[in-house]
Amino acid sequence: MDVVIRQTPKEVAQLAAAIMARYVSEGKNIGLATGSTPLLTYQELITKHREGLSFANTTAFLLDEYVGLPEDHEQSYHYTIYNEFTQYVDFADGAVHTPDGMNPRTEEAGREYEAAIEAAGGIDIQLLGVGTNGHVGFNEPGSSFESLTRLKTLHPQTRRDNARFFGSLEDVPIHVITQGLGTIRRAGHLLLLATGENKADAVARLVEGPVSAMMPASVLQLHRHATVIVDEAAASQLQETEFYRFVDANRPEWQAY
Ligand code: F6R
Repeated sequence: MDVVIRQTPKEVAQLAAAIMARYVSEGKNIGLATGSTPLLTYQELITKHREGLSFANTTAFLLDEYVGLPEDHEQSYHYTIYNEFTQYVDFADGAVHTPDGMNPRTEEAGREYEAAIEAAGGIDIQLLGVGTNGHVGFNEPGSSFESLTRLKTLHPQTRRDNARFFGSLEDVPIHVITQGLGTIRRAGHLLLLATGENKADAVARLVEGPVSAMMPASVLQLHRHATVIVDEAAASQLQETEFYRFVDANRPEWQAY
């Protein structure tokens, strides 16, 4: 796992967008996350689009969707990604996929999403955030490392964390359809971003703690190509920062970010 520490959230976003842009320019498939963390990265990608980067040959897959929110609900992830990112760039019609949170047959919705990813040839780079409790996607603690897209119940902590986007805690859906850890593991490159002091504990556990289903983000330790980019605040509980900074400062030319 490559751990990169940058001073500010903006520098995290600039590096993340530069990495994503390489995939987009080659027409590769990208996986998108919602939530607060990737917003600055999306702004950087929008800027790159205005400077000439085209998304016309790229297919995108979101990590997850709330169950029971129609696509046009302002907190549905289908709407959120459009509102914050995809409306400003030139994805082809139908190229941005979200799990179907309105299909009452949730197993079918999961199977269809897996089939869509497979039909597109898989996800080449998956952008990830991390929950304060260590979830990636909405794979809450205890999720199987082999799991595929399926229904999950949100952890009460996740519902409290996400209540800021809704009017009240009661309005936060209880269920989601999320790519599984097995789905996420199949992506060619995992790019996890974390910023802010409130992510420091999760970052330390995912990078340096034991691999455990109780710490779903530790699945990155098993991946052949995982990059974790954090700001100083999110890095503040890591033990091996001297080493991560040394690696970064001495990155071979061909590996340079
Ligand atoms: C969002 C997602 C979640 C978030 C995580 C962090 O699609 O799958 O795993 O990445 O909850 O959220 P923020 O970035 O809002 O702290």
